Amino acid sequence: MALILGDLMQVSTTNLTKSYGEIQALKNVSVSISGNATGLLGPNGAGKSTFLKLLLGLIPPTTGNASVLGYSSRTQALSIRQNIGYMPESECFIPNMTGITFLTYFGRLSGLSARDAIQRAHEALYYVNIIDERYRKISTYSTGMKQKLKLAQALTHDPALIFLDEPTTGLDPFGRNEMLDLLKKLVNDLDKHIIFSSHILHDIETICEDVVILNEGEMIKQGTLNELMYVHNPDIVVRIRGDHNSYVNTLKSAKLNFIVRQNDISIKNTPGAMESILQAAVSTGVQLRHLEFGSSSLEDLFVDIIQSNQKNNERIPKS
Ligand SMILES: Nc1ncnc2c1ncn2[C@@H]1O[C@H](COP(=O)(O)OP(=O)(O)OP(=O)(O)O)[C@@H](O)[C@H]1O
Ligand SMILES: [Mg+2]
Repeated sequence: MALILGDLMQVSTTNLTKSYGEIQALKNVSVSISGNATGLLGPNGAGKSTFLKLLLGLIPPTTGNASVLGYSSRTQALSIRQNIGYMPESECFIPNMTGITFLTYFGRLSGLSARDAIQRAHEALYYVNIIDERYRKISTYSTGMKQKLKLAQALTHDPALIFLDEPTTGLDPFGRNEMLDLLKKLVNDLDKHIIFSSHILHDIETICEDVVILNEGEMIKQGTLNELMYVHNPDIVVRIRGDHNSYVNTLKSAKLNFIVRQNDISIKNTPGAMESILQAAVSTGVQLRHLEFGSSSLEDLFVDIIQSNQKNNERIPKS
């Protein structure tokens, strides 16, 4: 019977660290994940794949611990893998096999009976919409079909929690939307829980409520997307009529951080900024024609978070 996760803690790590000689792929990551769809967001080399492999017990941590569905990745990796679907980043195929044979084989490896494995293989291929090509050799599949086959492989044994490592990699815009739709359906219609890594902000925004942001092996933020967007104040954008230079100079004297863009002045929403903006208008006699909070996307948030993290690291002397 399929496991129902509800609010069960899916993933919990304490000071999880993975080093390869001098390279620290993951540094002291302590995180708890229990949401329906959690995005693991970070640029190339951030440690996303390392994190997922550590959770699955495919590689051992250097220090720290991880547990998935209450199982320890150090000592109960097999139980984790029996209960988790995993769509790896790299190809995991046996090219001479047909789609259906490959999936049936995977189902058997996951412990399904021969009959259940073949039935589940058909269902998973139907779900990802490669049912017509199921008797073709995988070596003849397009990149899009291979990505979908990888997803089907992660679903064969009907796990409640699925890890997906960059599921949209290499897909054209159509294939990407198709993949995102499949993931949305998994979460919304089939009550699956997913943790999926991506460096594409749009993909995370489309599917996830929660996000964990990694950069250079460190976890730099965790929260719901709404919380993170709220904390990340959008700029205040003003348009004025009157002595532009005088107004801009007054903003400078008030130590505001701003950028002038054509007719608009985009001002960082630091504490007291709004008061200074209004005060500057009064003291220079300009008319405020327009004042609004600028739009802020996850993209802005991501760039800001990564830049401020890098600045903080520069300030901390390396021992
Ligand atoms: N087996 C390994 N040996 C040496 N270094 C490794 C190994 N695996 C990963 N690394 C390094 O660890 C860091 C994190 O790698 P990882 O693959 O986890 O990043 P990622 O966030 O998945 O990146 P990408 O978006 O490119 O897939 C990188 O600097 C990578 O070069
Ligand atoms: Mg990766």
